[in-house]
Amino acid sequence: MKAVRIHNYGDASTLSYEDAPMPSISSNNDVLIRVIAASVNPVDWKIREGLLAQMIPYSLPLTLGWDVSGVIEAVGSTFSKFKVGDAVYSRPDIKRNGTYAEYVVIHEDEVAHKPKTISHIEAAALPLAGITAWEAMFTTAQLKAGQSVLIHAGSGGVGCLAVQLAKSQGAYVIATTSGKNRAFVESLGADQVIDYRSQRFEDVISDVDVVFDTMGGDVQESSWSVLKPGGILVSIISPPSTEKAAALSVRSAFVFIEPNAKILEELAELVDVGKLRPIIGAEFALQDIAKAHALSETGHTVGKIVLYVGLP
Ligand SMILES: NC(=O)c1ccc[n+]([C@@H]2O[C@H](COP(=O)([O-])OP(=O)(O)OC[C@H]3O[C@@H](n4cnc5c(N)ncnc54)[C@H](OP(=O)(O)O)[C@@H]3O)[C@@H](O)[C@H]2O)c1
Repeated sequence: MKAVRIHNYGDASTLSYEDAPMPSISSNNDVLIRVIAASVNPVDWKIREGLLAQMIPYSLPLTLGWDVSGVIEAVGSTFSKFKVGDAVYSRPDIKRNGTYAEYVVIHEDEVAHKPKTISHIEAAALPLAGITAWEAMFTTAQLKAGQSVLIHAGSGGVGCLAVQLAKSQGAYVIATTSGKNRAFVESLGADQVIDYRSQRFEDVISDVDVVFDTMGGDVQESSWSVLKPGGILVSIISPPSTEKAAALSVRSAFVFIEPNAKILEELAELVDVGKLRPIIGAEFALQDIAKAHALSETGHTVGKIVLYVGLP
């Protein structure tokens, strides 16, 4: 089969569209998926660069990509919850070979039926970013109706889903982005949009219940001052200081997501009742993966970058 693999860590020139061995089911718990679409997340090029090599000792060559929408080709057990031909989507375990490939083997408890009302291309834009937004705001921060949330980078892959999810929960949603994306982020349901290039968010808002930090660094540091006492700063970039949180009488958390089929089922339901829509900013064929990575690495994409892999 064709796949995009790396044989060593490095820049986008390490991405090789090539023949790779067909993956095989190795346990009762595995399913083989024919990939129709995948998507690009920043973690893909971070892994490509070797930035996670200390944390996850990959053996190379490695197939990148950890979002998929496709069709069940084979199941590992007759007791599987899936049958051949089912349309499914997943954010699989990043410790295994990924989804920039015509076929991928995934544990079936990391897989869910894809939303019925959208295409595979759209569905591939949801799993990793959607699980992340859900885990951070709902599982961790316990965001509730009537509470306020500041979502950094509301126009990004995670942020554009986070804004919609927080809104569907009944929260007051404040999002940062640059001026060119203001109307777009408002269209997702944000109640207040702050252009980070012309205003400091910490000068504009205060007493927020939840900050969802998707940027880290100075943005995380400046976020403490906008929280109300008892509020929570949840980051997906780096663990916020617990000492600082205690000194300010607020809470903090760091989230690094794992596969989660239950959340995928919740996301599919929200899509199918019209409360959530995937946002696709750019589409590429799998062969053009280097261009897709270059775009993601700008840090200024809108929504998700999806990859066409196979025929529906
Ligand atoms: N811990 C985890 O499990 C986990 C999971 C998923 C993602 N992540 C990480 O979370 C980060 C975000 O992921 P993503 O997929 O959403 O990234 P992304 O799609 O690349 O984000 C791009 C967006 O960020 C906006 N942006 C850039 N600088 C900004 C700033 N200073 N303030 C506000 N918005 C800004 C851009 O808007 P403009 O073009 O308008 O500037 C753009 O729309 C990445 O570092 C990723 O690796 C972590």
